[in-house]
Amino acid sequence: MDHFARKLLAWYDRHHRELPWRVGPSDKAQGVVPDPYHVWLSEIMLQQTTVQAVKPYFDKFLTRWPRVADLAAADTDEVMAAWAGLGYYARARNLKKCAEVLARDHDGRFPDTFEGLKALPGIGDYTAAAIAAIAFDRPEAVVDGNVERVVTRLFAIETPLPTAKPEIKTRTKAMTPAERPGDYAQAMMDLGATICTPKRPACVLCPLRDDCIALSKDDPQRLPLKMPK
Ligand code: ADE
Repeated sequence: MDHFARKLLAWYDRHHRELPWRVGPSDKAQGVVPDPYHVWLSEIMLQQTTVQAVKPYFDKFLTRWPRVADLAAADTDEVMAAWAGLGYYARARNLKKCAEVLARDHDGRFPDTFEGLKALPGIGDYTAAAIAAIAFDRPEAVVDGNVERVVTRLFAIETPLPTAKPEIKTRTKAMTPAERPGDYAQAMMDLGATICTPKRPACVLCPLRDDCIALSKDDPQRLPLKMPK
């Protein structure tokens, strides 16, 4: 495992966020495994929505529809009503469609590969990679806005977004470890959300501060650059 991954995982073991859909390192050590349904539901809800806003919705959905089969059998209008307030309603329609496909064609279970996941309604590159990594420990490169910011600063990538996306993806792939890729993906997201923040990043607390090229050069907050709209 390279030194980035080693440092990041050690940081994650101590400082990860407790989230309702997450199985933390100590629970995993006790033999708890992530539920792909929970991982999927949370990742769909977290697109364009904050962690704080998602929490009550995540709990509500699991209470009403504890398994994929329950969501597949649910009334579409009820699902849409339960989603009300989260916005981007195409997500809810696809959520329902995806549950139906899983119930009908996959015995209510999620495929355990990137390709299998990506074939499902509402699951694009990001979500397929996130579920494959977090639920099935596949070494997929999971790149959301948080990870883009971390990687851009770590390597001082001066190319603006979105042009820099392929380079960020390549860097992320190269850094992803074969061991604990699910924890690693979540560690990158937590680092971006809690330390390597858009404004006033807490570099003194960062486990990667000795490796961060943006920090060694000048001001990490300057990055990532954005293409003028
Ligand atoms: N944002 C989106 N998915 C996340 C996850 N699995 N952990 C933390 N933040 C996230």
